Amino acid sequence: MEATELVKAITSLREPRTTMGGVNLVAGFRPELWRKVAADASPRGVEDFNHDVVGPGDYRMPTTQHDAVLWISGSAYDVVFDVARQAIAALDTVAQVAEETSSWPYHHDRDLTGFIDGTENPSLIDAPDIALIPEGSPGAGGSILLLQKWTHDAVAWESQPIPEQEKVIGRTKPDSVELDDRPADSHAARTDQDQFGKIFRRNMPYGTVTDHGTMFVGFSADQRRLVAMLENMAGKTDGVRDRLTFFARALTGSYYFVPSLQDLRRW
Ligand code: HEM
Repeated sequence: MEATELVKAITSLREPRTTMGGVNLVAGFRPELWRKVAADASPRGVEDFNHDVVGPGDYRMPTTQHDAVLWISGSAYDVVFDVARQAIAALDTVAQVAEETSSWPYHHDRDLTGFIDGTENPSLIDAPDIALIPEGSPGAGGSILLLQKWTHDAVAWESQPIPEQEKVIGRTKPDSVELDDRPADSHAARTDQDQFGKIFRRNMPYGTVTDHGTMFVGFSADQRRLVAMLENMAGKTDGVRDRLTFFARALTGSYYFVPSLQDLRRW
């Protein structure tokens, strides 16, 4: 069966040991594909990104779901490049590359809006409880990933004075302090984790000088938190659209299940 072959091929990929510095390899599968091949290691009710997320005024975040994702990261691009090419070659008979994005850190922890990204992330101590399926449940130790590529309208964004940008995000630009009078349509208000539950983000800036944005990378133990945040950003719930979506446009949208190493090793 095709899905089984794909899972087998991906799980046999290994992070190579090199003298040039290591790479980290994260593999995820379309949730409904993973459920077909490993029902007992599949969290209940997790769905593919099956529909565009729509909001008032024909606003739309598109679905571009693919069967699997590989996230290869490392401190040097040459090693990442080689490992990515080897992975593509190893998967040649079972998969083709549908989409490729290269990303890089920008001024330590800022995204390409210039704001610090990740301030409200849980600490690394707390992150496993938030991002991983709990012990005793199917898929334990795995995580649900929302991957969504956003292109930024840099000209429109940069034409806003900093106090206005701060109202869009809901935090200050130099040091990411939450605004006392954070507007209801600010990004931080639309994704408020006190309302929707906590997630763990590892967003990455991507692209070229003239065409760039944010690869949103969000992990959660519960898909509903991610779905609810997206719908609230789109204004689906109450007609209030996240102001950030007037400066950044979602190009892609997909969910993946990232199984635990233990579940991957069974293949
Ligand atoms: C263009 C895309 C995006 C950019 C540039 C962006 C940037 C930011 C920034 C600068 C912050 C404030 C600092 C922080 O707490 O990290 C933030 C907060 C946050 N963002 Fe985003 N974000 C994007 C998309 C998304 C999406 C698609 C989601 C969820 C589906 C999301 C979820 C969150 C959450 C949960 C917070 C923290 C909210 C809280 O204060 O509890 N973001 N984002």
